[in-house]
Amino acid sequence: MEGKIPEVDDKALRMLLTKIKQKYGCDFSRYRQGTIKRRIYKRLLVSGIGDCQTYLQLLEGDLEEYKRLVQDLTIKVSCFFRDPYVFECMARVVIPTIIATKGEQNDHTIRIWSAGCAYGEEIYSVAILLKDYFGKKHKDIKAYDLFLLGTDIDEKALSKARRAIYEEEAVLEVKKRFLDQYFIYKNGLYHLKEEIKNMVTFCWHDITSSKQIAPPSGVVCNYDLILCRNLLIYFDISLQKQVILKLYQSLNSGGYLVLGEAETLLKEFEPFFEIFSSEAKIYRKKENIE
Ligand SMILES: C[S@@+](CC[C@H](N)C(=O)[O-])C[C@H]1O[C@@H](n2cnc3c(N)ncnc32)[C@H](O)[C@@H]1O
Repeated sequence: MEGKIPEVDDKALRMLLTKIKQKYGCDFSRYRQGTIKRRIYKRLLVSGIGDCQTYLQLLEGDLEEYKRLVQDLTIKVSCFFRDPYVFECMARVVIPTIIATKGEQNDHTIRIWSAGCAYGEEIYSVAILLKDYFGKKHKDIKAYDLFLLGTDIDEKALSKARRAIYEEEAVLEVKKRFLDQYFIYKNGLYHLKEEIKNMVTFCWHDITSSKQIAPPSGVVCNYDLILCRNLLIYFDISLQKQVILKLYQSLNSGGYLVLGEAETLLKEFEPFFEIFSSEAKIYRKKENIE
């Protein structure tokens, strides 16, 4: 399959994406179509079906196949502390600044959201950093109202995130002291300890949905830190704009937005964010757009 882009008929592709939208609720028509076509082609191969039309008929009678298709349409490569320098920057500057600012405002609520959280590695990494920060500063974590949220459109990925049991490749970037402190190694797998698991809530949320501004389990928006990494790259430019606007609206003034290594803030958003670290792709919100 490598190299050659498979031919998936455009008309059948449009019908297929419409069906997914109707049945599953996600609109993949504004994702980069090359990736979507390759992934559908792969699904056809796995199902032993030669063309989109026949696959559409199969979908009619098989709701579970929609879930499998959505799983295949989305890429879930992730790991704990992916791009370690980004997490170093969060540990050294972003988290201490958020907590210090909150202290000045006498506000003990800290809200952090990982949009497109895959198996939870990213938001759990932030939870570990927070726990470590409070421990080092001898601050009582219970004195803070922490809300850490991981959202994704892949239900299976969310279930795995809630179980929080990982293979070795997911924890390769985890520092030894964190590995010893927060994981239990059992039967070749790394089990995240309850004290970290309990810090995070996971729920299904489609970041491209124009119906919801904030994820359902977030009461309002007001996030201090949003990680939306390695997700925008799958969207076309108009969808990127829509999603960045949504992230902007979901952030507190002065809140941080972290993008993926291969992603940048679109030019039209530059007036509304300051570049906090161009290397780590961390941006800081200036003011609300009226
Ligand atoms: C490549 S992973 C990135 C995981 C993690 N953020 C990281 O950078 O390591 C992209 C994730 O985004 C999810 N995703 C794709 N489309 C989405 C959407 N419309 N809303 C929310 N999540 C989505 C996928 O299911 C996948 O888990």
